[in-house]
Formats: sequence, C-alpha cells, structure tokens
Amino acid sequence: MKILKFIMLSIAAIGLIFACKSKEPDITNAPAKKTAQVKAQAPAYSAMANDIENGKELFIDTKFAGGTAGKSCNSCHPDGRGLEKAGEKKEFSIMGKKQYSLEEAVNFCIVMALKGTAIDPNSQDMKDIAAYIRSLKK
Ligand code: HEC
Repeated sequence: MKILKFIMLSIAAIGLIFACKSKEPDITNAPAKKTAQVKAQAPAYSAMANDIENGKELFIDTKFAGGTAGKSCNSCHPDGRGLEKAGEKKEFSIMGKKQYSLEEAVNFCIVMALKGTAIDPNSQDMKDIAAYIRSLKK
C-alpha cells in the first residue's frame, strides 16, 4: 500500500511539474511582450516631446483648438512673423490685454482670434506649438 501511495504521489508530482513547465512560457512571455510594446512606443513618445513640426502643423490648422473663425495662427502671423521674440518674453500685450506666459498668450489668441477653446497649458499640443514659436527665434 505504501508503495502504491508513493507511486501515485510521484505521478502527481511529475504531472504538476509538467503542468507548471507548460505554463511557464505563458507567464514569462506575457510581461516580456508588454515591455517590448512599451519599449517600442517609448521612442515615438519621446520624439513627440516638444515636436516643432507638429507645432507648425497646428499653427497652420484652422481647426486647431476647436477654432470656429476659419483662421489659423498663420493667418495673422504668417510663417510666425512677429513672434520671433515671443519664445523669450515673460509679458505680452495682445489687443490691449496683458498675458504673463507664452502659454497664456497662445490661449488668448486661440480664444480671441481663432474663436476656439483654450487648451491645457501642459498639453502636448501646447508644448509643440510653444516649441514651434521658440524655434522662430533669430
Ligand atoms: C486675428 C489675428 C490673430 C490670430 C488668428 C492669431 N493671433 Fe496671435 N496675435 C495677434 C495680435 C494682434 C497680437 C498682438 C500684436 C503682436 O504682437 O503681433 C498677437 C500676439 C501673439 C503672441 C505674442 C507675441 C508677442 O511677442 O508679444 C503670440 C505668442 C501669439 N499671438 C500666438 C498666436 C497663436 C499661437 C495663434 C494661433 C492659435 C495666434 N496667435 C493667432 C493676432 C492674432
């Protein structure tokens, strides 16, 4: 009887080992695949950080920030003309109103000139358009 029990236990143990082994690749592969995906996305995201090209596209987009005036930033600031110093300024005076950061100035023009909706000052779009404006510095 004891031997039979031992054999049964051994079979169970071997079965368990095999069961674990066959599951192993799943367990180890799943997170590996995820990391690979995250890694594949990472460069795309860091390339997005302050993307001047994207900022320029937004600058000429009449629909930017929900604009309803049919104008883009480029309509009044063709090729960014007149904004060469804006990237470094701390105080702006636009249409008689003072603004105290580049982001505020951009949002002011979004609301007043594009008739759009102010965007989050920390958003990627704002970073990109600010990067484009800063790139105009001569
Ligand atoms: C209807 C015309 C008009 C449109 C469209 C417009 N702006 Fe302006 N913007 C002005 C005027 C007028 C001023 C104040 C005078 C100046 O500095 O040129 C100004 C000033 C600015 C300034 C401050 C410049 C400085 O050095 O003081 C920034 C930055 C700016 N605009 C960004 C933008 C952005 C970004 C857009 C698009 C979202 C935009 N503007 C769309 C008319 C416009």
